Amino acid sequence: MAPKEIINNIFYTGLNHRERRLFDELIPLPMGTTYNSYLIKASEKTVLVDTMYPPKSDEFIERLEKAGLEKLDYIVCNHGEQDHTGAIPKVLKRYPEAKILTNEKCKNLLIDMLHIAEDKFQIVADGEEISLGDKTLKFIYAPWVHWPDTMFTYVKEDKIIFTCDFLGSHSPFENLFAPETPELLKAAKRYYAEIMMPFRNFCKKYVQLLKGMDIDMIATSHGPIYKNPSFILDAYETWTADEVKNEVVIPYVSMYESTKEMVDYMAEKLSDKGIEVKPFDVVEEDLGELAMELVEACTVVFGSSMVLAGPHPAAVTTAYLAGALRPKVKFVSFIGSYGWGGVLVEKLEQALSGIRAEKLEPVIIKGKPKEVDFAKLDVLIESIYEKHKGLGLVK
Ligand code: FEO
Repeated sequence: MAPKEIINNIFYTGLNHRERRLFDELIPLPMGTTYNSYLIKASEKTVLVDTMYPPKSDEFIERLEKAGLEKLDYIVCNHGEQDHTGAIPKVLKRYPEAKILTNEKCKNLLIDMLHIAEDKFQIVADGEEISLGDKTLKFIYAPWVHWPDTMFTYVKEDKIIFTCDFLGSHSPFENLFAPETPELLKAAKRYYAEIMMPFRNFCKKYVQLLKGMDIDMIATSHGPIYKNPSFILDAYETWTADEVKNEVVIPYVSMYESTKEMVDYMAEKLSDKGIEVKPFDVVEEDLGELAMELVEACTVVFGSSMVLAGPHPAAVTTAYLAGALRPKVKFVSFIGSYGWGGVLVEKLEQALSGIRAEKLEPVIIKGKPKEVDFAKLDVLIESIYEKHKGLGLVK
């Protein structure tokens, strides 16, 4: 895609990366991603907002040249992570006169990660404005979405705000503006679940901040530009709210069907009680889908077979990831089956320490479930039902 004008001499200079399948060597990217960058050609100064993922640096420089960029005054760094800053050394080589506008925290990160000389930086304060002639940049510190250095940059005259990772989505695009489709919403929810959910309270705060501003467009650093800010802000308002849905998520791993039998039993009985159940095979399925399920669920029940006297490693990894994502679930429990013995619950609980939820009595059984085991599951099912009822989620 050639550099395209978004509005009044503000151009999109980012790139799609459709082939990328993993982010941070961890997060699945079913569609790939984009690294967004924006060029502002104001009457007196020219500014680049965020740059590029290092392997695409050369393509990025070509792109800037194609956009007719001969002289660059500033590079705004809204966030130090290298998918947006890795190309800075090459950009500075091509445009040596440019200064980096950022905050102190981001500056220190960039010095450590990219060895950029200290005299290349100009620190901007929270709320500070810089005139570019016919346009004015305003910087808004917004730490912890998702690093301590994050900030937003607002162009006052055009009412466009650059929010870097916040509100983004891993969705490549050809047309600049976000289609208001369920597919995009799903991509944005996946992105929220995987990257922003641990910082839910900060997200909540910044959604309100943005809702209170005069904004016509939100331009993030991944995914298309939102021409209708409320499309994404309203969705974030729901995802970050304290309220939960009448849902039980059951991530499980089952070696010889015994744990699976317990999962199926719980799923059927909970459904009969009017509760939505999402069983999730953690070996077979995409963990990004699980992260999405955790965004609004009320309860999570981990299911695991016992292997080598402990929970299956796939269950431990999943519990660790779920704990790190810190979903707003209210209740948590564990089910599983062992052959000859071991410790299951304590190890999963340890892995899950990031979740602050009430623990409901686990059900750990020997071998294939028997009558007495189903009776124990009935107690757990009833307990979940009562808890959901107590929150007014089910009649
Ligand atoms: Fe898209 Fe935190 O980097």
